[in-house]
Amino acid sequence: MPIETTATVVAEVPDDAELLAVPYDSGLSPAVELHLPVSGLLAHYDAKGEAGEIVEVPVARPGGVGRVLLYGVGDASPRALRTAAAALTRKAKGKDTLTVVTPGGDVAVFVEAALLAAYTYRIGVSGRKPVRRLVLAGADEEPVRRARTVAEAVALARDLANTPASVKDPAWLAERAAEAGVPVEVWDEERLRADGFGGILAVGQGSVRPPRFIQLSYTPDEPAARHVVLVGKGITFDSGGLSLKPTENMKTQKTDMAGGAVVIAVLGALAALKAPVRVTGLVAAAENMPSGTAQRPSDVIKHYGGRTVEVLNTDAEGRLVLADALAYADAHLDPDAVVDIATLTGAITVALGRSMGAVYSSDDALAEQLVTAGQAADDRLWRMPLVEDYAGALESPIADLANVESGSRFGAGSITAALFLREFAGERPWAHLDIAGVGRSTVDEGVLTKGATGFGVRVLLEWLTRS
Ligand code: BES
Ligand code: MN
Ligand code: ZN
Repeated sequence: MPIETTATVVAEVPDDAELLAVPYDSGLSPAVELHLPVSGLLAHYDAKGEAGEIVEVPVARPGGVGRVLLYGVGDASPRALRTAAAALTRKAKGKDTLTVVTPGGDVAVFVEAALLAAYTYRIGVSGRKPVRRLVLAGADEEPVRRARTVAEAVALARDLANTPASVKDPAWLAERAAEAGVPVEVWDEERLRADGFGGILAVGQGSVRPPRFIQLSYTPDEPAARHVVLVGKGITFDSGGLSLKPTENMKTQKTDMAGGAVVIAVLGALAALKAPVRVTGLVAAAENMPSGTAQRPSDVIKHYGGRTVEVLNTDAEGRLVLADALAYADAHLDPDAVVDIATLTGAITVALGRSMGAVYSSDDALAEQLVTAGQAADDRLWRMPLVEDYAGALESPIADLANVESGSRFGAGSITAALFLREFAGERPWAHLDIAGVGRSTVDEGVLTKGATGFGVRVLLEWLTRS
């Protein structure tokens, strides 16, 4: 569901605020005058002024008791503001209105984090609702508007990925893309066959729900200086196919279209923000299922553009659908840069864990831009190497490439997957984001909620709109 919490701005703190949040710094002094012995209270509760600290004080109000939430903001750095804001909305869960005296520093960062921490995904009626209204006293309108747009885009990406695969198939995903607010073109099975999208077809052929290739186009009103293509992995469920996953690994795989969800959400947000850059989004959508019509380990498929691949493991399906999309972008779209985003390998979770996504790139400048944008936007990326020595892992005796290494001489599962994709990206600046580790959260904490994270929306919007 979209974020249920609204965020509005008022000039002055209203006298009758039932739940009022007031920041204090590490000197333990509050940002506004209060009729409370603030420093005594903070000292009593051993407050230190750290971000995430909240001291709740009941206060007499006409007609009842109100509450003041004294909240620490640490050094007011973006990181501290995110922690403080997320703690506040979590504290106000189930309440009607939280009035917040905004701290110094970046208001957009503060509001974005507050809204993301309020995100919920519920099927049914149980569970406490997030705070209904956030009223920001003394904040500027513009950063609040941007924060809302960005947070809504993250929420959309989370919603799409959290949707059960019983509901979500490739055609459903194409319908959601058509609602993003930009022109959309969809390839059905017949057209995929006619145009030679052999990777997407092979991965989708085991499912009764056929694959789709989805193209979203955002064109700004003014002529744009650059054209970027974003490619998302859109596996609506990854059972592994005939190379079937064990249950433990399979049960998280409804979020295997998280990259595609990010692409859809970003394209919609670019239009809402009137970004001055032309962006084409591509989502390669298929359901990876085992059946009598499924592809077999040892099949040889022909990708868009004619390259052949020996499929040795049907669970390495993401690279197969992405290869078609990358080859299509290279052949038809003439972009200045291509960035793909995919929950591609379990191996990247081993390498970087759940807090950092991986970026691979053939282009140093592009890699640096993405790392910098990730740092600023709180979708942190670590650059990984495209180790040339490992390219031999993907040699096949009968096809142009194999989709996985046969033995274990090279290892490096996330790197070899990136090397596979590179073969299809052409000579243009290209980057690959492996978000398998960061695409899902196992905890409700800070700006994250259990389940899909929407990782990638914030870094891509930051990169596309601010650099
Ligand atoms: N969708 C998975 C990767 C994944 C794993 C995402 C865990 C999120 C959480 C991908 O399609 C996959 O199955 N990768 C294989 C590749 C292997 C067969 C070379 C993997 O990582 O095990
Ligand atoms: Mn797989
Ligand atoms: Zn997958």
